[in-house]
Amino acid sequence: MTTALCPGSFDPPTNGHVDVIRRCAAHFDRLVVAVVANPSKSPLFSSAERVELLSSITDDLDNVEVASFEGLLVDFARSRGVDVIVKGLRAVSDFDYELQMAQMNHTLSGVDTVFIPTAPEWSFLSSTLVREVARLGGDVASLVPEVVMETLKERLT
Ligand code: PNS
Repeated sequence: MTTALCPGSFDPPTNGHVDVIRRCAAHFDRLVVAVVANPSKSPLFSSAERVELLSSITDDLDNVEVASFEGLLVDFARSRGVDVIVKGLRAVSDFDYELQMAQMNHTLSGVDTVFIPTAPEWSFLSSTLVREVARLGGDVASLVPEVVMETLKERLT
C-alpha cells in the first residue's frame, strides 16, 4: 500500500487544491492531506477550520484523511507512514522553491517528492489572491468550493 501526503497552507482551499487532491487520491492507495498549523503568514482561517473545510470537500473520497501538523513536514510524514510527498505545480515560477523543499525533505528523511501539474484552468489561482479578491468584494464563487465560499462570506462580512 502506498501512502501519499499532500501538504499545504490551504488558507483557504481553492479549486486548484481540490483538483490536485482528487487526482492524487486516484493514483495512491491512501492520501493524507496535511494542513500546516502555523504558516509563516497569519492565517485567515484557523487550522481546525481549514481541516474542517478540507474534510467536507473530500467527504466522498474513502482513501483521503485530513490532518494538521506543526513542526517539520518530514516528521509528520514519518509519523503517518508516508511513502511520498505530492505537490502541485502551477507554473515554472513554483518550481525553484518546490525543488529546494523537495531536496531538503529528501536529505532530511529520504522521502521523495513528486510533482503533479495543476489543471491549466487553475494555474493562475492561489489562496493569497482568493483572500485578497474576496476581502475587496470580488466574486470568487467560481474559484473555490461552495463550502469555502460560504465560510469566506461569513468571515468577511
Ligand atoms: O501551501 P504552501 O504554503 O505552499 O505550503 C508550504 C508547506 C506547508 C508545504 C511548507 O511550508 C512546509 O512543509 N512547512 C512545514 C515546515 C517544514 O517542514 N519546513 C521545511 C521545508 S523544506
